[in-house]
Amino acid sequence: MLKRTCTCGDTRKENAGETTTLSGWVNTYRDQGKGLVFIDLRDRYGMTQVVFDAEDTPKEVMELGGTLRREDVISVTGKIRDRDGKPNEKLPTGEIELVAKEIEIINRTAKLPILPDDHDADKIGEEHRLKYRYIDLRRPRMQKILQLRHKITQFTRNFFADREFLEIETPLLITPTPEGARDFIVPSRHQAGQWYALPQSPQIFKQILMVAGCDKYLQICKCLRDEDPRADRQAEFTQIDLEMSFIEQDDILALMTEFATSLYKEVGGVDLGNLPQMSWKDAMDNYGSDRPDIRFDLQLADITELAKKTDFKVFNEACDAGGSVKAMRVPGGAEKLSRKKTDAYAEIAKTYGAGGLPVVKYQDGEFVTGVAKFVTPIKEELVEALKLEDGDIVMFGVGTYRVACTALGEVRLAVAKELGLIPEGMFRGLWVIDFPMFDWNEDAGRWVSEHHPFTAPLATHLDILESDPANCLSSGYDLVINGAEVGGGSIRIHNPEVQAKVFGLLGLSQEKAEDKFGFLLNALRFGAPPHGGIAFGLDRLVMMMIGTTNIRDVIAFPKTQTGADLMCEAPGIADPAQLDELGIIMRQPAESTE
Ligand code: AMO
Repeated sequence: MLKRTCTCGDTRKENAGETTTLSGWVNTYRDQGKGLVFIDLRDRYGMTQVVFDAEDTPKEVMELGGTLRREDVISVTGKIRDRDGKPNEKLPTGEIELVAKEIEIINRTAKLPILPDDHDADKIGEEHRLKYRYIDLRRPRMQKILQLRHKITQFTRNFFADREFLEIETPLLITPTPEGARDFIVPSRHQAGQWYALPQSPQIFKQILMVAGCDKYLQICKCLRDEDPRADRQAEFTQIDLEMSFIEQDDILALMTEFATSLYKEVGGVDLGNLPQMSWKDAMDNYGSDRPDIRFDLQLADITELAKKTDFKVFNEACDAGGSVKAMRVPGGAEKLSRKKTDAYAEIAKTYGAGGLPVVKYQDGEFVTGVAKFVTPIKEELVEALKLEDGDIVMFGVGTYRVACTALGEVRLAVAKELGLIPEGMFRGLWVIDFPMFDWNEDAGRWVSEHHPFTAPLATHLDILESDPANCLSSGYDLVINGAEVGGGSIRIHNPEVQAKVFGLLGLSQEKAEDKFGFLLNALRFGAPPHGGIAFGLDRLVMMMIGTTNIRDVIAFPKTQTGADLMCEAPGIADPAQLDELGIIMRQPAESTE
């Protein structure tokens, strides 16, 4: 066997004259006729041109070279030759080529279902790329993503190891952790009829590690949430998970700011700035989102008081019910945004709970079209409040405070995309702080946690936890970059009584709380230090640095929209004997997909 002496990305002009052996995949094949065959040989490190030249290459090697096809795996030994004056500018190795003297064809490739070409990747259906992921991953872009991911995890480990964090693994087979999603469950064989849950995050375990005196914990861990995948969400994803003892919110934000800014700078080559802090209320008020994209302005204004002065039923009903009316001025929007566009924005507003999206244009000093009739009586005040100029369009978000803000906030994003307001290549991050502890869930008729049930109220709000839960703020914080939530955490409750009160507010009876989280409540009773932490979404960090909106691009073996792994064909049918052993009877035998 010919043994590789260097990689396909190594060789340069100064190596001319050396004899070397390369191993890799045949990326391209060109037979020029007249005894000249060129191939580009590719491995993870790069590409080198190999030439089979009848003048220098032995006859039998020439013949074998002529039989090569794309993606065959070969080793080839030869002499490095300077491509005098005819370099391939596109390749770092482009000034040289390897003249083949010996060849070993290690594995011939069957007819390829897809080719690992970056330029054609978008034309190949993603299903095909996922089914033949081992070919897809050979693409230089995918290799670059895997390397970037590795660099991020490596940087993370070094950063936190330097600061005395311990990497500790937590189990996968556990009882449910409440992160708000559905659990994946696994049957127990030893205890038939009992089930494990897979962790939605290591939340409780990392808190218990603090009770155990570990002080600083890090884990780059898998989290499993049985929720429908989205462009930035997978059922199985990875977190950079951290927890610290004897720590306050400001300490965590300072440390994590240092981590995020140095990670972006050193690995991504991006200056994130100093990560300002913004309260949840300001974020909602001005950007209509708890993950505001601050790369562009286009802010919302509250015009509830003005709206009360109109005869517009939609405004009046919302105001009477204690809701809000928000307005967004789009400069020059009267011309730029057609009726078709504003109708489409209304559909967006509806998906976020609003009844629609009232709009009005401001032209020649008058309100025209849309709800002009209703807002003309408050013209002067509205023009003043929104600093309207001729040619603007105004859109209104109407409903409960959260619906009015969120619906218009989502429209804000769509308008920014349409009008090209988001600067390319810009990164802007911030910390969102001072979240409410709870949100009232109308359907469930109870409070739900804005973060998770272990998040502590702000120390200054502890006294209103039970008397005024609606206004009780938490010590939760999220890191938002370019409008995406890349991380979230909080100072935790370390007092068992406060924890029991929060469970109570969330509708968990004492009995149920003991039943579900007794082990945590117990741990808190046996010497729990004050502690807090955070988890970053690793996949989202990679997505952002590589510039993709598809989370599947940054995961080596991702799942489809329906949770399938197309390569290994999971999920699959369990062997009846296996089910029997577990004491499981299928109500309806699954149909074979074979
Ligand atoms: P949270 O649920 O906010 O917090 O998750 C933390 C971060 O993980 C990422 N993330 C996801 N990424 C891809 N797919 C998903 N389905 C997905 N869900 C979440 C996000 C998010 O900011 N235990 C707490 C953390 C803590 O309090 O320390 C937790 O899991 O980037």
